[in-house]
Amino acid sequence: MSDTVEQPPRKSLWIRHQAIERNSIFLLLGILIVVSIGGLIEIAPLFYLRGTIEKVEGMRPYTPLELAGRNIYVREGCYLCHSQMIRALRDETERYGNYSLAAESMYDHPFQWGSKRTGPDLARVGGKYSDEWHIAHLKDPRAIVSQSVMPGYPFLAQTPLPTKAITDHLSANRKVGVPYSDDMIANAEADLKAQANPDDPNVAAFQKRYPNAQVRKFDSETATITEADALVAYLQMLGTLVDFKLYDDKANLR
Ligand code: HEC
Repeated sequence: MSDTVEQPPRKSLWIRHQAIERNSIFLLLGILIVVSIGGLIEIAPLFYLRGTIEKVEGMRPYTPLELAGRNIYVREGCYLCHSQMIRALRDETERYGNYSLAAESMYDHPFQWGSKRTGPDLARVGGKYSDEWHIAHLKDPRAIVSQSVMPGYPFLAQTPLPTKAITDHLSANRKVGVPYSDDMIANAEADLKAQANPDDPNVAAFQKRYPNAQVRKFDSETATITEADALVAYLQMLGTLVDFKLYDDKANLR
């Protein structure tokens, strides 16, 4: 008969578990220990990040005008609706182009990968539309895409871009690791003006410092350099620095 009597659970294990689950301090300590082990495993590799970013030809620090545009992008919170990170999934690469490389955001402080796509990914929007398209779209998105929920930013084209602070922005970026040279920092303000004016005498020197930089009046509606000039210069550069034709399609990138 003794066979049919229900056996209590193995005592030692049961008691230990009960002790943890019934004592909130123990439980909290237990959770902390387990979570910090998981956290360490995720965070520790980031300290060696420098070694994990592959060097990619074509990547250069942002020009002063692009950096100013990027600051406006961050200020206006464009990242709340737009990501800048094309994932290595077929539907993404077919729609947006080659998936994003780590090196493509190596000069981003902070990075703009984003976590929400109310609008499309912008990692490779450069060259997709004309400058006029961007200016009109920023002014009133619904004039271009009738059902757009993107807010208008008409004030950008009316706000002259402050140019004095750009030298400090470059220096600040250098402090966190962007390889701006002394020459680039000394000429920051002149370079910013040169990029928005093809007739500027400094254009040649500017293009030597920043290979493949696009030089033109991005916001042709006003004579002065506006915030819209800077933002459009930034958008038109996005995703254009790395020439993917240089890579063998089958070898590693697609
Ligand atoms: C409330 C969300 C929202 C915000 C904020 C927002 N956008 Fe958009 N954006 C959209 C949506 C939705 C679309 C798609 C419809 C359209 O083209 O207007 C879009 C489209 C775009 C496109 C065209 C992309 C393509 O490939 O067709 C660009 C460029 C763009 N936005 C830039 C910006 C910039 C720059 C800012 C910040 C100044 C910004 N957006 C802020 C929602 C947003």
